[in-house]
Amino acid sequence: MADKKAYLKIDGVEETIELPVLHGTEGPDVVDVRALTAQGLFTYDPGFVSTAACDSAITFIDGGKGILLHGGYPIEQLAEKSDYMEVCYLLLNGELPNAEQKQEFVNTVKNHTMVHEQLSHFYNGFRRDAHPMAILCGVVGALSAFYHDSLDIDDAHHREVCAYRLVAKMPTLAAMCYKYSNGQPFMYPRNDLSYAENFLYMMFGTPCEEYVPNPVLTKAMDRIFVLHADHEQNASTSTVRLAGSSGANPFACIASGIAALWGPAHGGANEAVLTMLEEIGDADNIPEFIEKAKDPNDPFRLMGFGHRVYRNFDPRAKVMKVSCDEVLKELGLENDPLLKIAKQLEQIALEDEYFVSRKLYPNVDFYSGIILKAMGIPTSMFTVIFALSRTIGWISHWNEFHSSPNRIGRPRQLYTGPTKRDYPG
Ligand code: SDX
Repeated sequence: MADKKAYLKIDGVEETIELPVLHGTEGPDVVDVRALTAQGLFTYDPGFVSTAACDSAITFIDGGKGILLHGGYPIEQLAEKSDYMEVCYLLLNGELPNAEQKQEFVNTVKNHTMVHEQLSHFYNGFRRDAHPMAILCGVVGALSAFYHDSLDIDDAHHREVCAYRLVAKMPTLAAMCYKYSNGQPFMYPRNDLSYAENFLYMMFGTPCEEYVPNPVLTKAMDRIFVLHADHEQNASTSTVRLAGSSGANPFACIASGIAALWGPAHGGANEAVLTMLEEIGDADNIPEFIEKAKDPNDPFRLMGFGHRVYRNFDPRAKVMKVSCDEVLKELGLENDPLLKIAKQLEQIALEDEYFVSRKLYPNVDFYSGIILKAMGIPTSMFTVIFALSRTIGWISHWNEFHSSPNRIGRPRQLYTGPTKRDYPG
């Protein structure tokens, strides 16, 4: 909706350019700059720091206040009172399900958790020590080879079937990455278990004996899924939307999101936090690493700190820290040395002018790795779990994009290369 205008006056150009100012239901107004092209102008915003690439009704973030809403519901309330299946329904449909809708959603997901037996052979093409994110990227992209019956992206029912299949199969595929790495047999999903129980069962169960998921760890796992479910137009979600804009099938789009998430500046940070804490090794070494993080000539960053949007505590990090204490207490690991280093690192950073002046706070990745490690999950699987959780966010945004008239995304550039010249001779 536009009820205000922006006026652009450019030196040497007589005419003042009028641009509509649009406003949503929350957050900053936006200047609609589409008319600039007709004036022979582009906007310039490397890294999209100040650019709204779309309108969306799924998730709202107020980075200054540390607010994260899914369908209007604060993440703190969802983490405390809801669960991942309910949040999946909310992200896909925009409303919380009633009891009947939730049960139907859970049952439908349960009936899609298995993967085609042929797909399990894909794993054999990888080395046993392949990074599980490399495997996940490959097998998710390959899913489109198995589901030709639901690839009409203009058919809302096909899009819904793809969403169910992806949400349901990601835990199975993720657990298969872990089992493949340690040579244990793949575990088939069980329909008598909840989503988080099933994932822990497929990760740590074996055919040799009964495996009963620990309820505290199951709740922590489900909460980690909830906290990572969606986060507006982050790098991997924007990648999925851009891939989707070309008409690529949903499985290929989700595979592109997995690839983008893998980077240590994004979802790969949870793995990098653990590597950093293990490299610090002892609280006495913290000052040295804080200085490295502050040194503009040193590429080292304090992993799990800072955020493009949050200039306050990441609300997810606060919930994750509580979960971390609960899990470590349940496991008798309250004195976990890495947790002690993490807490001292956080305290020192939050009192250091460099971090305070730049509003660098712990983000979602700072404590999640400590929980996952305490649960016996290898560091290399951390980003796989982030990808598993974020699949619902990716597919919800992909679905939202295709639910209204759209066009291919095609950013422009400020060209700085050679001007036109003739080939010599
Ligand atoms: C996720 O976008 C999302 O929503 C992502 C995510 C999601 O749910 O999808 O929230 C998940 O990706 C969380 C972020 C995980 N990444 C990390 O923890 C890696 C460490 N963080 C940094 O790499 C960095 O903070 C980013 C990548 C997260 C943000 O990068 P920006 O916005 O480009 O930050 P910036 O470079 O503009 O930072 C401003 C200043 C710079 O210093 P000056 O040039 O002003 O001197 O802060 C410094 C940066 O050097 N800085 C850091 C720092 N983060 C920023 N210095 C030391 N350690 C850090 N972690």
